[in-house]
Amino acid sequence: MRILLLTHSFNSLTQRLFVELRQRGHLVSVEFDIADSVTEEAVALFAPDLVIAPFLKRAIPERIWSRLVCLVVHPGIVGDRGPSALDWAIVRDERSWGVTVLQANGEMDAGPVWASATFPMRAARKSSLYRNEVTVAAVQAVLEALAAFEAGWRSANDAQSGPGTWNPAMRQAERGIDWARESTAAVLAKLHAADSFPGVPDALFGQPCRLFDAHAATPQTVARAPRGQPGDIVARREHAVLRLTVDAGVWIGHAKLAVRDEWENTSLPSLKLPVAQVFHEAWAQLPDLSLPLEHDAGEWSEFRYWEDDSGAGLVGYLAFDCYNGAMSTAQCQRLCAALRYARGRQTRVLVLLGGEDFFSNGIHLHQIEAAEHRGAESAADASWRNIQAMDDVALEILAFSDRMTVSALRGNAGAGGVFLALAADQVWAREGVLVNPHYKNMGNLYGSEYWTYLLPQRVGAQRASDLMDGRLPMSVRRAIEIGLIDASLDGDARSCLAEIGRRAVALARAPDYAAHIDNKRRKRAADEAAKPLAQYREEELVHMHRNFYGFDPSYHVARYHFVYKLPHAHTPRHLAMHRGGSLPAAQELQALAGKRS
Ligand code: COA
Repeated sequence: MRILLLTHSFNSLTQRLFVELRQRGHLVSVEFDIADSVTEEAVALFAPDLVIAPFLKRAIPERIWSRLVCLVVHPGIVGDRGPSALDWAIVRDERSWGVTVLQANGEMDAGPVWASATFPMRAARKSSLYRNEVTVAAVQAVLEALAAFEAGWRSANDAQSGPGTWNPAMRQAERGIDWARESTAAVLAKLHAADSFPGVPDALFGQPCRLFDAHAATPQTVARAPRGQPGDIVARREHAVLRLTVDAGVWIGHAKLAVRDEWENTSLPSLKLPVAQVFHEAWAQLPDLSLPLEHDAGEWSEFRYWEDDSGAGLVGYLAFDCYNGAMSTAQCQRLCAALRYARGRQTRVLVLLGGEDFFSNGIHLHQIEAAEHRGAESAADASWRNIQAMDDVALEILAFSDRMTVSALRGNAGAGGVFLALAADQVWAREGVLVNPHYKNMGNLYGSEYWTYLLPQRVGAQRASDLMDGRLPMSVRRAIEIGLIDASLDGDARSCLAEIGRRAVALARAPDYAAHIDNKRRKRAADEAAKPLAQYREEELVHMHRNFYGFDPSYHVARYHFVYKLPHAHTPRHLAMHRGGSLPAAQELQALAGKRS
């Protein structure tokens, strides 16, 4: 079928549907919902069999839905309507939730239901639920709806009837926290319901801001912290601050300052940044409750190292759960130190776990943008330092010559984050993870992290260049087919740890383990003799220097648009194949069309 994905942006859910539908042989093109006339033009150009809307902020024009079946993905149970579906589900502590695929008609979210799926709720950020449970349910429901469409169904007659109801958009006033009365669970629910957007309106150190990135503090930590009243900020750990609640406390990691334009009497855009950066002086004066790298699993910290509990000390695990997968210069430096610590341990396998939602998304574009406004260094300088630090991490991983290294992707990886993963000897990824092995979407960035060494040796030179130019997301299945990834893992981000452990121990105990290490050493030495890693790095950085400091400002413009989430003015051609398409994508489309006709 010819399927047009009409969407506000190419977000993770849209990307997942894109890869799943293409994998099933459908011709999929994407159009951003910019204006009714643009949507109509896309429909005229592509002539789709049907339209799927995974992520919309406006209604589909009647001229489209009255002619074509348009299926809208709503992140709510049957009967639920309104723009804050997940937010309300979290705050109301729903035990199970779901996704409904309904047909667009004149009333928002009220059309006939084509399919639905449910899932048990988890205490987690809205964005994490969206990237995991909601995405899995949406894929299931969309595939079910497509099967009905293929079977000849054209319109479901039933109006919605289910347990859900209409709920208005959640207002900022409803998100506010009453620190003197609300329990930790209620505080966390409010913070989770507003993360990643719009954040909870509050104040830190007397300054109005929005709060993000919350984690429960353990009773042990609260007992160690100075006493105070609920709402007081009493300690710090890494980039976060500890704020007391009536019954315990929460760590708050990120904040967005409220900036007013007094002249226009409007809010100015501001950046979501680590609390330590936004309120540096006040943060620095707090008592530090940071933990050693090896600490209890129940304690929140960005970085954690542990070893398998078999007693044999065969496998070391290093988790680095950076918010949104973005890795600043300082985080890269901490990761390098953690890798050196891991190297000092007597293990046979080191597993790099990244975070639960993201393995890594490369350099920290928000912090780089913030540098532009601080004046101490330019965004170009900050980018330059950050990419060097990322390269240092990749080099640390490549330098493990005495044991096997594995990258285990429990969450999505993008740009430099993918190539960082490739620095390990083996790459495993959870089924359902999306990888974006390319840089060019960020203003034609060339990229570093030794990708010119790591990528071609896995997929060949031609495919490496196609991937870079194609700029498309890829499923784990496809990544395995082309050799980018070695194995897939079952389960969700937490349950897959068991399989990771089994595989890692098997690798450590493999009868040919010593031969593996021998081969690895020999290959690295031969590669180094053919072309030193330093040369790969230097060559990549020549391009990156041009991206950061050269005449062409594309990277700076793209970063600005990305961090401030500016609305799209057009759909890029590598996604909108009906508008010409990028070469590899268009060729693939034509080949598929030929095969089917
Ligand atoms: N730096 C800072 N923030 C980043 C980031 C990065 N490298 N990558 C992602 N984020 C943030 C986004 O701003 C967004 O923040 P918010 O929703 O909390 O405000 C959040 O992570 C999720 O990103 P989003 O784009 O909504 O996620 P997605 O799953 O839909 O898409 C990617 C994933 C990787 C395709 C997309 O995030 C991306 O292109 N990131 C940039 C990658 C990059 O160019 N890195 C630099 C080169 S190494």
